[in-house]
Amino acid sequence: MTTTDAATDLRTRADAHLMATYGPPRAVFKRGQGSVLFDADEQPWLDFLSGLAVTSLGHAHPAVTEAVARQSATLVHTSNLFLTEPAVTLAERLAEVTGWADARVFFAQCGATANEAAIKLARRHGKQQHPDKVRVVALEGSFHGRTLATLEATGQPAKHVPFAPLAGFVDHVPHDDPDALTAAVGDDTCAVLLEVVQGEGGVRPVPAAVLAAARAACDAHGALLVVDEVQTGMGRTGPFFAFQDTDVVPDVLTVAKALANGLPIGACIARGAAGEVFGPGDHATTFGGNPVTCAAAVAVIDTIQDQGLLEQAATRGRRLRGALEALIGSSPLAAGVRGRGLLLGLELSAPLAAELEAACRERHLVVNAVAADVLRLAPPLTVSREEIDVAVGVITEALTAVAARHTTD
Ligand SMILES: Cc1ncc(COP(=O)(O)O)c(C=O)c1O
Repeated sequence: MTTTDAATDLRTRADAHLMATYGPPRAVFKRGQGSVLFDADEQPWLDFLSGLAVTSLGHAHPAVTEAVARQSATLVHTSNLFLTEPAVTLAERLAEVTGWADARVFFAQCGATANEAAIKLARRHGKQQHPDKVRVVALEGSFHGRTLATLEATGQPAKHVPFAPLAGFVDHVPHDDPDALTAAVGDDTCAVLLEVVQGEGGVRPVPAAVLAAARAACDAHGALLVVDEVQTGMGRTGPFFAFQDTDVVPDVLTVAKALANGLPIGACIARGAAGEVFGPGDHATTFGGNPVTCAAAVAVIDTIQDQGLLEQAATRGRRLRGALEALIGSSPLAAGVRGRGLLLGLELSAPLAAELEAACRERHLVVNAVAADVLRLAPPLTVSREEIDVAVGVITEALTAVAARHTTD
């Protein structure tokens, strides 16, 4: 069987036995190294998506590989009836990188389950003040996950429709209207939940005035400010967490995706009184704090710190942004650049992002159309200058190809 036949065979087997939640697969990858993925034919592809902002240290990073190998040969699981060292160490390291000396952490498996924990924590906190204090204010265009509570918090009505009716405890306000947010928060609000940069919503930064209004409204009404850093966390936008570049400090922070560079983990981190809300029996999950995933996450934090990756990512982010901005005059399709650090969106002048994604894919560059008119780029923090130049060259060619198709149509 040729490698191409093997890839086709894998797709057929997938069609037979995997639920059709993800649409047709775009390629079959066998292995990865740094910023590069290799397909079934051993052909290299430049990965400027990092598995949806997950493999931020690049593929097969030796520090993560070593931590996983060491821990999996030592102890893989005990349940939360017992303590293991990696979970405690990771909680301490998260306290260090948030800068919250009194941080307390609940470990989940992914972004949605970290947010689910945060929503339950906020409702528990609200109910300690008043039985009706359970409502959440979130932003239109947000994405917080696909469990029922996080789906409801997600400000994208089309995603609600197939599962309606939902519980009806979330009010959404525009992502850029501080007055609407202030007006929506009341004494029955237990939390405001938001992203600093909306990732799945199209790489849209939330204005500083909205963040400030959220903090003030939470303080005025005894609600918790929950910042979802599932996509922006772990250096993706510059600092360890995107809120650290703002004037606002949340009560609760959620992180997942890049935390263990590809192993499934999420964390809900709370400070002050918010960290004291949950007691025994309030919340739990069998795999939370798993020693292997926690050991991998500790290795990720060590690597980011030891190799100065926050600083490097900031420099590379500026290079990538500058190169994308230079396309604006030269291609009629390139209209703007938004985002922070290495989470960037190339805005198009027409809803052709899916075509542009496909044109990049034909040229073995992995990026994605995060909105009809926005192409998302999220390369690893370890991306090299040369890789940035190659990727922007491919995008330039792809823009020309897509634009040509549409001027001759
Ligand atoms: C900001 C944000 N929150 C939550 C989630 C859900 O994370 P997961 O898919 O790991 O459940 C995502 C996923 O894209 C996200 O971007």
